[in-house]
Amino acid sequence: MIETFIYLKNFITDKYVASITPTFRSAVEKVCGKIDFNDRRLIVEYGPGTGAFTVNLLNNMTGNSRLIAIERNPNFCRILEKGPLDPRLKIFNDCAGNVLDILKACEEAEADYIISGIPFSLLSLETKLRILNTAYSALKEGGKFLAYQNFFQLPEFLKNHLENVFQNVRAQYVFQSFPPLVVFEALKSNGNSGTCRLPEGTAL
Ligand SMILES: C[S@@+](CC[C@H](N)C(=O)[O-])C[C@H]1O[C@@H](n2cnc3c(N)ncnc32)[C@H](O)[C@@H]1O
Repeated sequence: MIETFIYLKNFITDKYVASITPTFRSAVEKVCGKIDFNDRRLIVEYGPGTGAFTVNLLNNMTGNSRLIAIERNPNFCRILEKGPLDPRLKIFNDCAGNVLDILKACEEAEADYIISGIPFSLLSLETKLRILNTAYSALKEGGKFLAYQNFFQLPEFLKNHLENVFQNVRAQYVFQSFPPLVVFEALKSNGNSGTCRLPEGTAL
């Protein structure tokens, strides 16, 4: 209840919050079920909000794994920083598109997983492509980009661009949340293009 109030308050002043409630726990478990936690993992989380996924990831990760959370809303960052201290977690008040600089600052090379809750439907084409291209570069070979979104997604919001960058993309609906979610699972593998340029003459 208190979390819904926090989301509502921030949603009014920051459209990129894009939700009036955190993701339901059952949906978080379903999405995190796509991650293999059995070894040391470097996981990057885009748009953790108040930490619905962050807590689940920390609970499942091995002791030597690392989680880097990148959140653009400063109020949410402050809430995350007040949460349980965990040396495996680093929080950055920044935009997901700056992930490569953030990895460098953390002295980390490439991520095993990037899990993203940011609302691609609200982003400009330029920002969207920057986020997808840098996510691709930030992942190791065999790494996965997991993006959960509100189930109502036109292909041009995310799917088409994701397929241009990663090619190997699967979508699954998750009904354990309201509204339901769609999760895109994009694999970085040999033969992916890894870049998606703005079409010539695109107005930004
Ligand atoms: C729909 S909420 C999801 C929050 C949380 N992960 C959850 O599932 O409950 C989207 C979150 O993405 C953050 N966000 C939006 N655009 C972002 C960006 N470009 N980089 C980092 N975070 C972003 C918002 O501030 C918000 O916290």
